[in-house]
Amino acid sequence: MLNRAVCFMLVLIGGIFISCTMKEDTPMGESSLFGKLPDGREVVQYTLRNNSGSVVKIINYGAVVTSLVVPDRDGKFQDVVLGYNSLRDYENCTTYFGCIAGRYGNRIGKGKFTLDGKEVQLTINDGENHLHGGKVGFNKVLWDAQFVKDSAGPSLALTYVSPDGEEGYPGKVTLVVTYSLTDKNEFRITYKGTTDKTTILNPTHHSYFNLSGIFTNTILNHELMINADAITPVDRGLIPTGKMLDVSNTPMDFRSFTAVGKRINEPFEQIRFGKGYDHNWVLNGYNGKIQKAAELYEPQSGRLMTVYTDQPGLQFYSGNFLNGNDKGKGVAYQWRTGLCLEAQCFPDSPNKPDFPSVTLKPGEVYHQTTIYQFTIR
Ligand code: BGC
Repeated sequence: MLNRAVCFMLVLIGGIFISCTMKEDTPMGESSLFGKLPDGREVVQYTLRNNSGSVVKIINYGAVVTSLVVPDRDGKFQDVVLGYNSLRDYENCTTYFGCIAGRYGNRIGKGKFTLDGKEVQLTINDGENHLHGGKVGFNKVLWDAQFVKDSAGPSLALTYVSPDGEEGYPGKVTLVVTYSLTDKNEFRITYKGTTDKTTILNPTHHSYFNLSGIFTNTILNHELMINADAITPVDRGLIPTGKMLDVSNTPMDFRSFTAVGKRINEPFEQIRFGKGYDHNWVLNGYNGKIQKAAELYEPQSGRLMTVYTDQPGLQFYSGNFLNGNDKGKGVAYQWRTGLCLEAQCFPDSPNKPDFPSVTLKPGEVYHQTTIYQFTIR
């Protein structure tokens, strides 16, 4: 009798728990409570699944991709992006795991530039420079999210309205980022942005990939190809000098597949400045249309990730600032256990008239499409 009563209570409590944490189940995806911000606002985790069995999970805090599960050559599904289990970790995170970085992904020298004849001063948050949108960038705000019908596949649209003056940026900017998972295992990101005053906009996606699916492995065995003949070399503060550097005969040459670790410790000045790879590659044949930018292959699992983008640049960051302090998904992320391939305009472009422009004016629409496609080899 007692046992029955206990069972009944447990079922009841379980039911209440499930109905509190399950937010919504639609044919397009599921959602559940991920956590609450200190002010009580709820952060929700959304799940997109395709017909090939791949799954991507996204939270509306920072538009963060919390996991991306894709098959290896034996059909084994594993998560290939670094991340955390709890909202608190994302709130405290300085690594930008999985987020949309913005308004300006990457660095602006001294956080300063001139726009329409006026000097703009942004928040300084990286030495003497501005990085990834400032102290409270797009990675630290709550976005509105909803499942949307998209011909690409199950999709989630996230919208953030950035007020005029946020982190020093002029104009109220509305950015819609749509994440889609196609049946061809493409994880597609489209961006659409507008402003009410002349401003700059250059968002990017900041997932750290480890295609082995084992986060205690480094990414040094990953073989990388980047379709670029040049990089924008940087100074010690990682601000571009404004010149172009031909990659020929340097450790920056990834025009054919090369293991990331092969030349990463060479005494090449750019490598020393970046403490490894942390540079912008100037993509060949930029014309504003979607093109293949890079391929990343992990030999043990056979996973191959191909990056397509309509952007002029690709920041390849080899996780040089990971140091074991960030723990998530049951491991402490050690040095170079994840790498980012961030499609964007060139760093510090507001101060470099020869770089493609990132200026956005009222009435114009900012667009970006970047695709990470997963296959096996
Ligand atoms: C930058 C790194 C920076 C990292 C922060 C990357 O996009 O290139 O320099 O440390 O983001 O997580």
